[in-house]
Amino acid sequence: MKKIAVLTSGGDSPGMNAAIRAVVRSSVYNGVDVCGVFRGFSGLIEGDFKDLKVRSVANILGRGGTILKYDRCEEFRTVEGRKRAYENLISEGVEGLVVIGGNGTFTGALMFHEEHGFPVVGLPGTIDNDLAGTDNTIGFDTATNTAVEAVDKIRDTADSHNRLFFIEVMGRDSGFIALSTGIATGAIAVMTPETGTTVNDLINVLEKAHERKKSSSIVIVAEGDDNGGAYEIAKRVIEITDKYDVRITVLGHLQRGGSPTCADRVLASRLGVEAVESLLKGDVNCMIGVVNDKLVHTDFETAINNKKNTLKDEVRLAQILSI
Ligand code: F6P
Repeated sequence: MKKIAVLTSGGDSPGMNAAIRAVVRSSVYNGVDVCGVFRGFSGLIEGDFKDLKVRSVANILGRGGTILKYDRCEEFRTVEGRKRAYENLISEGVEGLVVIGGNGTFTGALMFHEEHGFPVVGLPGTIDNDLAGTDNTIGFDTATNTAVEAVDKIRDTADSHNRLFFIEVMGRDSGFIALSTGIATGAIAVMTPETGTTVNDLINVLEKAHERKKSSSIVIVAEGDDNGGAYEIAKRVIEITDKYDVRITVLGHLQRGGSPTCADRVLASRLGVEAVESLLKGDVNCMIGVVNDKLVHTDFETAINNKKNTLKDEVRLAQILSI
């Protein structure tokens, strides 16, 4: 393999740049040329490629976001779009592709590989941590640390005013960020798609805390919770009782930015090097993750379709510690 390409796709996550850097540096180390594809699959279809050298990725290790950018691409969902992408890669002399992203990215990569037999490897880059085949995705650690820092600050004012705060964190389909944040900040309850907590359950928990004279309470809500987001849940609580002085904060895209933590930088670096070595060995059509501190390859289908973890242990932990 003489040349590989790397792209980022889907929502950005802190550490994506560290992964790009690792792909570029390990390619050069192995005597392989490397180019960046800008704007994800859109760039593949439009031939938006740029050769990357060792210095092209200097000083990006600690930067959030992605230097390769991202653009939602409907055309890559079509057979014709993927064919154009393939033709561009071939005319550019590219023989292997590294895609960094989440579920949607790997779904596209899998179709592309199946149609054209093109060697692709994926790296899990999403703050949501909802991919099977890796303990942590790139960006999850940073996003949860950002959320914890924000909740700690809200706790100060909540405590001063004896208030009940509903704080919404990201996680459209999963409660990984919510549960970690809830455990790390001593939340009274965590509402996620996995916990199945109803508003009545929540009221019971709040009542008990009230009887114990708890001064402030924090409820962490995953944006994808079945009861709705923080605004909806708070509204329903207020309709049932006026006992609490309620405030709401939605952390939103704050969680997607910022300088990656050490854990995310190291994870991204390990995965980036392994991606290049896998391509060179011909071990392709898979996502690379780290499980129990070991590099693990998981075929795209499993990474996309398998549920990672029911989060039962985390749910139990949050419940025990919130009394
Ligand atoms: O990065 C994943 C995620 O944070 C989800 O939890 C969230 O629903 C989504 O991205 C929102 O992304 P965007 O606003 O870019 O569509």
